[in-house]
Amino acid sequence: MEIQLWREILTPYDLAVDELVVKFSHMIKEYRQKGMYSPIEQVTGRVKTISSILEKVQKKNISMDEITTKIEDIAGIRIICQFVEDIYKVVDIIRNRSDMTIKSEKDYVKNQKDSGYRSYHLIIYYNVETSQGCKKIQAEIQIRTLAMNFWATIEHSLQYKYRYNMPDSIKERLMASSEAIVILDKEMSSVRDDIMDAQNSFNDKANVVADILNNIQNLYKVANKREIVKIQDEFYSIYKENDLEQLKKFNKQLDIIAEGYRAQGL
Ligand code: GTP
Ligand code: MG
Repeated sequence: MEIQLWREILTPYDLAVDELVVKFSHMIKEYRQKGMYSPIEQVTGRVKTISSILEKVQKKNISMDEITTKIEDIAGIRIICQFVEDIYKVVDIIRNRSDMTIKSEKDYVKNQKDSGYRSYHLIIYYNVETSQGCKKIQAEIQIRTLAMNFWATIEHSLQYKYRYNMPDSIKERLMASSEAIVILDKEMSSVRDDIMDAQNSFNDKANVVADILNNIQNLYKVANKREIVKIQDEFYSIYKENDLEQLKKFNKQLDIIAEGYRAQGL
């Protein structure tokens, strides 16, 4: 197949990966803006390289015109979560979306692979609009925790290093470390509520501070300079106290001051 044809085949997948990454990243943003905990921590995507498509074609005896039907992971999305519970939340979110449909799923979290690999895999159908019209493509979504991702990344590099001849001693060590990952994920889940509280208040603080600075900036246009300097000094001294409730109270006061100016302006 010529390079031009490859580009034609891969372009819609490239678009799908870009779109899906934007959509999932935006979900993270939406949760955080609302001061809520996001079940998604990170999202990445990639289009399979031509050489690795060819490798799969050979390995699975796929004919060239079956590439887009039989290779389900030309477009690949990886969603990283903090906790195992989040994985199932993300699966539910995807299940309920109208812009993607699930073709198949594999729960390697509950049924880990012999290698020790854990992740939740979904194959979805997703429509993209190209210059040739609408195209329905398949994409693979891998959902895993940070800890599972750590293990899979190391194991993948070792697989690559040893190709198909990984020494038994390394395999055993990987199995043992995958058990350690299961324990780590369990431990993390048991402190999940505490961790989430801490993260929420961190987010809350970031949102209040952004709000306060925005308020001060708006006041800057209408209030006199001395008053602004006073407000700013007050903000810094409250900020140093590291007390979220005080910051919220201060922000309310700013709202009232701003409201006063607005009333005067009318
Ligand atoms: P593929 O031919 O690889 O697509 O196998 P499959 O159709 O049986 O799909 P499966 O869901 O088992 O695996 C798909 C993808 O998951 C792989 O391309 C890897 O990215 C990842 N994966 C599966 N097993 C392992 C593993 O043992 N180790 C690592 N590091 N990744 C794995
Ligand atoms: Mg696959």
